[in-house]
Amino acid sequence: MCGIVGAIAQRDVTAILVEGLRRLEYRGYDSTGLALAQPGGDLALWRTVGKVARLAEKIKANPGEGVLGVAHSRWATHGGVTEANAHPHVSENRIALIHNGIIENYLEIRESLRGKGYVFHSETDTEVVTHLIHDFVKQGHDLTDAVKLAVKQLTGAYAIVVFDAQQPDRIVVARIASPLVIGFGNGENFVASDVQALLPVTRSFIFLEEGDVADVRRDSVTVFDARGRVVERKRHESSLSADAVERGEYAHYMLKEIHEQPQAIADTLEGRIANDRVLPNIFGVDADALLQRVRHVQIVACGTSYHGGLVARYWCEALAGIPCSVEIASEYRYRDVVVPKDSLFVTISQSGETADTLAALSQAKKLGYLGTFAICNVPESSLVRESDLVLMTRAGPEIGVASTKANTTQLAALALLMLELARINGLPAERLRELVAELTSLPRVVDAALKTEPEVRKLAERFVPKQSAIFLGRGTYWPVALEGALKLKEISYIHAEGYPAGELKHGPLALVDAEMPVVAVAPNDHLLEKLKSNLAEVRARGGELFVFADANADIDAHQLGVHEAHGALVKLDSGGNFIAPAVLTVPLQLLAYHVAVLRGTDVDQPRNLAKSVTVE
Ligand code: G6P
Repeated sequence: MCGIVGAIAQRDVTAILVEGLRRLEYRGYDSTGLALAQPGGDLALWRTVGKVARLAEKIKANPGEGVLGVAHSRWATHGGVTEANAHPHVSENRIALIHNGIIENYLEIRESLRGKGYVFHSETDTEVVTHLIHDFVKQGHDLTDAVKLAVKQLTGAYAIVVFDAQQPDRIVVARIASPLVIGFGNGENFVASDVQALLPVTRSFIFLEEGDVADVRRDSVTVFDARGRVVERKRHESSLSADAVERGEYAHYMLKEIHEQPQAIADTLEGRIANDRVLPNIFGVDADALLQRVRHVQIVACGTSYHGGLVARYWCEALAGIPCSVEIASEYRYRDVVVPKDSLFVTISQSGETADTLAALSQAKKLGYLGTFAICNVPESSLVRESDLVLMTRAGPEIGVASTKANTTQLAALALLMLELARINGLPAERLRELVAELTSLPRVVDAALKTEPEVRKLAERFVPKQSAIFLGRGTYWPVALEGALKLKEISYIHAEGYPAGELKHGPLALVDAEMPVVAVAPNDHLLEKLKSNLAEVRARGGELFVFADANADIDAHQLGVHEAHGALVKLDSGGNFIAPAVLTVPLQLLAYHVAVLRGTDVDQPRNLAKSVTVE
């Protein structure tokens, strides 16, 4: 989703801005642009469709310098992917503006500006804001006041960054519902949509709040709240490493992130389990009293994070004996929800900036939940700041758009929460000890699961010519099947659907023929026999089976009717039924990855998708 970077310094900021955009590439985008204030009140502008590297070439071909500038990577919402629609947008060669979000009332403002003689060169909502600010500046307001006046007219979600080449002492920014951070340097200051962009130049940040406008100068930053009062926002020192986003020896970030899972899970569990139990207060100081009262859990999330929630529902009801509902955030936020008594609202999000999840959280806060609990990977995110209790996953920056290590660390974090609820609700100590021991083994078992890669790479070849695939699982492995299908469709562009295996007869079986690969996750549990019957139904229709089964599951290739040229059975240690959903996710990630590589797609930045969906 769109990326924002801005800088005001004593040195040329071009390289800082380009590097900032490069570090935001993982968010997903389709065009880029950069503008610099020039001596004499002019501005220099470069824009291009495509990647940041192309923008960098364009700047190299026609170089410019400036101590004040802004840069943007755009993910099209209003208007197609064209150079004219790329940001920065410019008004009368002096105001340059970049924007994330959506201005809902842009059409009416555009009409009124047209009436004043403004000519529009793009189809975007952003250009409207640019001219609107210019109009106020022309009336004699300084840039900061012009922005304050302009945002009063806007409805929608936005993070805006603007400069006036004729007032080159400042960048002015404003935000509603889209993230914006200010980074502090030595005699220079920066702005961005995400701290990642600025880690090479600073570690010191403030996060703007809803309705804030800030006047950012080389040696000072003044923040005004929604009512126009000067306010201090708390400074944070980021602990993220600037190198964590390097790809190293791996061909893609996604592959690197798949292989980082044992460490990421170990980091997520570290210091949180000891002496066979989940340590008290890992969820925050007041958590214990609150968790004691929980009688229902409502989980809300999007995409892969939603799949994590679906697994946790099984754990919550089976281990803690507490009813649990899981819902997609974009549905939850617009529904008339009935909240059961003593219900805990749990959000799951890698980025902590997903617009629907944040909106669901803000909706939930009005509905009388006991409290809000976030499982999140980004400490500086809006979700973390806005939730009562937080459990951080410690996956480190995830750059590949298709989520991998964020997912398995979410499962580890959810397991901690559910074990704690289980303890509070009287799960026998002996059983709890066994489960904690199983969870502790997760990094090691995931590490072993990665060893299936050569085998999985080989069978990926069989998927290359396919148009579609079905993924099956039962119980906690149904969400695993959903996640496997999502991974495959996201990055290989093969149509894939995940189904609870019991639903096969109610529709998907009609699609099964010799051309249709059916992927199944077969654990060693009480549902294995039922799953085997479902797989027999697939074989009877000539479907090609690819089965990932626990090493001890009573299932063999002959029984399944798979052989060298037709399907495959991959057996691996899934580590016990509690942690097996996380373990069996791993070969499915590897499958999607290798199919995508063989099909030659853009694995880390698949078409039309964004890492962090900060607009609706
Ligand atoms: C996008 C990403 C997915 C992610 C989803 C939810 O669709 O491409 O990988 O699962 O957003 O994001 P979140 O940051 O809230 O987990």
